[in-house]
Amino acid sequence: MQTKIEKIDSSSALAIKIIEDQPEEKLDFLSFREKLSLCNISHAEKRKEWATSRLAIKDALDSFDIPYPGYFKDEHGKSQSMNGRGFVSLTHTAGMAAAIFHQDNPVGIDMDLIRDKIVNIGFRFLDSSEVDFLEKDPLHYTLAWSAKESIFKCQGKRGVSFRENILLEPFEKDSKVIWGKIYGTDHDDHHFQVRNRIMDQTVLTYTIW
Ligand SMILES: CC(C)(COP(=O)(O)OP(=O)(O)OC[C@H]1O[C@@H](n2cnc3c(N)ncnc32)[C@H](O)[C@@H]1OP(=O)(O)O)[C@@H](O)C(=O)NCCC(=O)NCCS
Repeated sequence: MQTKIEKIDSSSALAIKIIEDQPEEKLDFLSFREKLSLCNISHAEKRKEWATSRLAIKDALDSFDIPYPGYFKDEHGKSQSMNGRGFVSLTHTAGMAAAIFHQDNPVGIDMDLIRDKIVNIGFRFLDSSEVDFLEKDPLHYTLAWSAKESIFKCQGKRGVSFRENILLEPFEKDSKVIWGKIYGTDHDDHHFQVRNRIMDQTVLTYTIW
């Protein structure tokens, strides 16, 4: 699989790509500002991740025949479209990058490798009610972590704590949907439906506002 593009519904799509070196001409679609950002990344692996995730955005947009508008990072680090149309979110992890696009609503996406050590750091990102329902299993913990990352990225604002402001409802390891909410912030409480995929040793989650 070099690229997997999937229409989620009539307004949204996601693309998952293997991270690899990209010939310069394949990146011609980037805006001038994005090309500058890319030049400023000195670490070769980071440059590949950055470029592949922008290609993933382009693949998702192409599935709707929407031209790539260019993206800039807002003050929180969230990518915003330069023409003010549509919403994206992106993620990269060892070997893979992914992006989600939605025409009308904010989105969040995340990928994480399933690692044993996550069970030992659960106290940093989990509420005690979540610790109670989660099995002491790296997959279950990674699903919880990644669901919170997707929710965090969908809302986009810094200062939201995974442990204190994002709460997940009980879910099983094979649940295709995880429900979670943001609460106790200056903004209204909001409920999120997070979908997930398990691909070999990697968990992918995404949510649409
Ligand atoms: C910034 C953060 C969302 C990045 O996630 P990550 O898993 O480290 O990395 P990913 O590859 O999945 O995602 C990186 C992308 O997230 C996006 N991103 C960064 N800040 C964002 C924000 N505030 N909102 C939405 N998306 C954001 C960027 O597009 C970034 O990619 P880029 O640098 O190539 O543009 C995450 O590290 C973070 O800060 N989380 C909140 C802090 C926190 O509470 N941490 C845990 C407490 S125990």
